[in-house]
Amino acid sequence: MAITGTDIKYACKILSEGGLVAIPTETVYGLAGNALNPEAVARIFEVKNRPSFDPLIVHVSNVQEARRYSTEFPEKAELLASHFWPGPLTLLLPKNPEIPDIVTSGMPDVAIRVPDNKLTLELLTALPFPLVAPSANPFGYISPTTAQHVNDQLGDKIDYILDGGAARVGLESTIVGFPANQPTIYRLGGLSVDEIEKLTGHLEIMPHSSSNPKAPGMLKSHYAPAKPFRLESAVKDNVTDGNNGYLLFCDSIGSVPIENQRILAPDGNMKTAAKNLFKYMRELDALNVAQIIAELVPDEGLGRAINDRLRRAASDSQD
Ligand code: TXA
Ligand code: MG
Repeated sequence: MAITGTDIKYACKILSEGGLVAIPTETVYGLAGNALNPEAVARIFEVKNRPSFDPLIVHVSNVQEARRYSTEFPEKAELLASHFWPGPLTLLLPKNPEIPDIVTSGMPDVAIRVPDNKLTLELLTALPFPLVAPSANPFGYISPTTAQHVNDQLGDKIDYILDGGAARVGLESTIVGFPANQPTIYRLGGLSVDEIEKLTGHLEIMPHSSSNPKAPGMLKSHYAPAKPFRLESAVKDNVTDGNNGYLLFCDSIGSVPIENQRILAPDGNMKTAAKNLFKYMRELDALNVAQIIAELVPDEGLGRAINDRLRRAASDSQD
């Protein structure tokens, strides 16, 4: 088990020596290291068992710093940054040579965001370098939304976990790039497409596929529990006698033991569903059930990102 606490000075010391610290963000917990230190970055890939073709997000404390690590900051990026940072939005921008190639898997763009968490912003402000931080889970597994989730899976491999409580949003950041100067969604996430479109007008959404060189690592199968995970429509009408766990949107199923069900949003609110999603996937995975059956949520607002994660958790294909 790693030490858990709120000691920013200690976290600074470890990171300055090239060590790794798990950090809280509003989306999910990240596994952080010095973005300018290629050895620290390499250790992150190792600890997560992450393929080297899957680039990392650079975390900075403000937009000035984001400008420093990119060579170009399109007007629409300025607009989005000024509205949504700090917050669950990552921008793909042409990389400054100061960022080592290992961070971007050799690609010309770097993913940058300003996370919205008090402790992590204090940490980033105190440090003389930015932090790379992928979600703090073994590659392909469910992202962690509490310090305990991190400790359960990576506790023996990292030096310290900065505990900022449960993640407020619960879904990874929305990634926006600017191919041909057109804002384009590369990953659905904790900032809904509708909110971004209010500023930008209609946005294209990049299909995720490992065969798409513009979006490496956006594998179809991801965010997956260890148990078989199935998506079903009309779940309530198809309950079988099997020993199943159920992940449901807002209503429970009368004929299933209540301890085998998780209701994402009893209040019907999509933000509640987003916040509970990964926690409940983990809880169902830990139950003594043979498989997990989930239903899609309404495909609106954050529901689109939730459904994206559910579909990928249910996919056993790697493309
Ligand atoms: O909310 C988040 O974004 C969290 C917290 C910790 O900040 N981080 C996170 O990182 O979700 P990770 O590594 O689990 O997912 C980052 C995604 C990957 O799918 C990666 O392929 C994509 O961002 N990405 C990173 N840099 C990229 C780049 N230069 N071009 C295209 N995609 C990139
Ligand atoms: Mg991840």
